[in-house]
Amino acid sequence: MIKFLDLHKLNKPFEAQFLSKTAAFLDKGWYILGDEVKQFEQSFATFSQSKHCIGVGNGLDALVLILKAYIELGKLKKGDEILVPANTYIASVLAILQADLLPVFVEPTIETYNIDPNLIEEKITSKTKAVLVVHLYGQLAEMDKINAICDSHNILIIEDAAQAHGLTFIGNHTRAFSFYPGKNLGALGDSGAITTNDDTLAEVLFSLRNYGSNKKYHNDFIGINSRLDELQAAFLNIKLPHLYTENETRKRIAKRYLSEIKNKKIELPICNNFNEHVFHLFVIRTENRDDLQEYLNSNGIETVIHYPIPPHKQKALQDYNHLNLPITEKIHDEVLSLPISSVLQEAEITHIIATLNSY
Ligand SMILES: Cc1ncc(COP(=O)(O)O)c(C=O)c1O
Repeated sequence: MIKFLDLHKLNKPFEAQFLSKTAAFLDKGWYILGDEVKQFEQSFATFSQSKHCIGVGNGLDALVLILKAYIELGKLKKGDEILVPANTYIASVLAILQADLLPVFVEPTIETYNIDPNLIEEKITSKTKAVLVVHLYGQLAEMDKINAICDSHNILIIEDAAQAHGLTFIGNHTRAFSFYPGKNLGALGDSGAITTNDDTLAEVLFSLRNYGSNKKYHNDFIGINSRLDELQAAFLNIKLPHLYTENETRKRIAKRYLSEIKNKKIELPICNNFNEHVFHLFVIRTENRDDLQEYLNSNGIETVIHYPIPPHKQKALQDYNHLNLPITEKIHDEVLSLPISSVLQEAEITHIIATLNSY
């Protein structure tokens, strides 16, 4: 069976380093916000060409903390409307709700799966204060258009880059990352980070993730406890130097899929510029998705659906269940993610392509 993502195989080459870092961690006896977190924050800021990096507990908290920091600084307030692509992973929407803000769903384009810039303006009201842009599946959203619209309406942009480590971003925005194990840069447990060029925002974020405190037992904000774990930071420090090469491997696989999969029943993702995609996921579409998934499975190929139910149709979001978002719903009915990772073998890729072509 070709696994959708073989995490054990992916992490195996780093195992000796993980063990020696763990031994050093045990010897040191410093468990929270130590040197490994500091080192990772510096390295990831440099890697992301960002002034600051704030290590946090996970990607959802990264988003919640950014929104809460903007509230503390008076740039957002309770009840403000935040535009968000309707087909995102639910975490983007949960973050908005957890910060007491109101999500307003915008349809994506079916070609890119990213927010449709042409539909943003019609959703803007006097209460719209930000757009939460998601670079879904690792592809850069249409930032030139989005930046121009938001500039002209004086609206903030926040980026959910949970699936987009290593992307060349556009614009001076604050971004949230997840290092959930299956991400392009994955830890061995939950973790996340925020990058920003805004000194004031960074200071609030360093505090908010740590009970609202930058000085022990002095609390300036109603913060939360969401610190990047020291051991996860140590593992991330080992893996970060390999991210660029791993992303290049993903791109190479994507190029093979894009040029060699030829089947009229299958829609391939659009990628006009390989500098604007890090292929966290390679997502195809087909009308009879469940049938294709079963067929692939019976031919030894594991696939995953990202995602089967859109946020506005989830039981947890009943206030939004009545919404009619046909493009989003079509995407959720038709998408299927193929295996793509740096440990996929050429023969496996060849088998996946041949199997798809004879479907
Ligand atoms: C687009 C998007 N946003 C946010 C998150 C949340 O990240 P985490 O799982 O680390 O909380 C994820 C992770 O799955 C995601 O894919």
